[in-house]
Amino acid sequence: MEIVSPVSRDEHKRFLDAYYGWARDVYDVTRRYYLLGRDVVTAQLLREPWNRLVEIGPGTGRNLRKLHAERPVALYGGIEASSAMLERARARCPWALLEEGFAEDADYRELLGAPPDRVLVSYTLSMVQDVERAIENAREMVSPRGEIVVVDFGDLRGLRGPLAPALRAWLDAFHVTPLPQGVLERHARTIEDGPLGYYRIARIPPR
Ligand SMILES: C[S@@+](CC[C@H](N)C(=O)[O-])C[C@H]1O[C@@H](n2cnc3c(N)ncnc32)[C@H](O)[C@@H]1O
Repeated sequence: MEIVSPVSRDEHKRFLDAYYGWARDVYDVTRRYYLLGRDVVTAQLLREPWNRLVEIGPGTGRNLRKLHAERPVALYGGIEASSAMLERARARCPWALLEEGFAEDADYRELLGAPPDRVLVSYTLSMVQDVERAIENAREMVSPRGEIVVVDFGDLRGLRGPLAPALRAWLDAFHVTPLPQGVLERHARTIEDGPLGYYRIARIPPR
């Protein structure tokens, strides 16, 4: 199933800047409770060998800061569509090379001087306009021996009663669409499901 947003790129960016213009101040505190699995992914990454990592949609730079605190010698970069978030991430991660761009077609192969060993996509795929293009682009950009690491909403199958539809409706209001079954399966070499199907962690190889 293809997921392509009907809104134009300009509309998408306008929405992101208006929304994150105010939400960035409360982002890290509030998202702690529902962007689950991010710490699982950063802990996994810190057990692996890599020197260059690019995050797609780094937001406030929360994940980059966690990684940098434990592995300060690595090179970090990011591609962010929202100017409001980019401003916040640049202030918080002065050691990272952060550029404005879209997951679907940004060229970040040489952002860190060589293709990244890891491309981290944390709760960004459920927001991009064209999921397939964003994944295909990351597969082109990552180093031939590297890996794309995705964490994002699962199918929420374990949430009881009205909880799952309520969460979906709430996410929809913020232009977030949990990835339908099959999207990650088409690309990933491994997929790990979090408790209650709340989140999924996928490992995607280079093209
Ligand atoms: C839900 S936030 C996740 C932020 C961060 N990765 C985290 O785990 O806390 C999604 C981020 O993706 C950005 N974003 C949305 N669409 C994008 C696109 N097409 N290309 C790049 N970034 C995008 C948003 O502006 C936002 O910063």
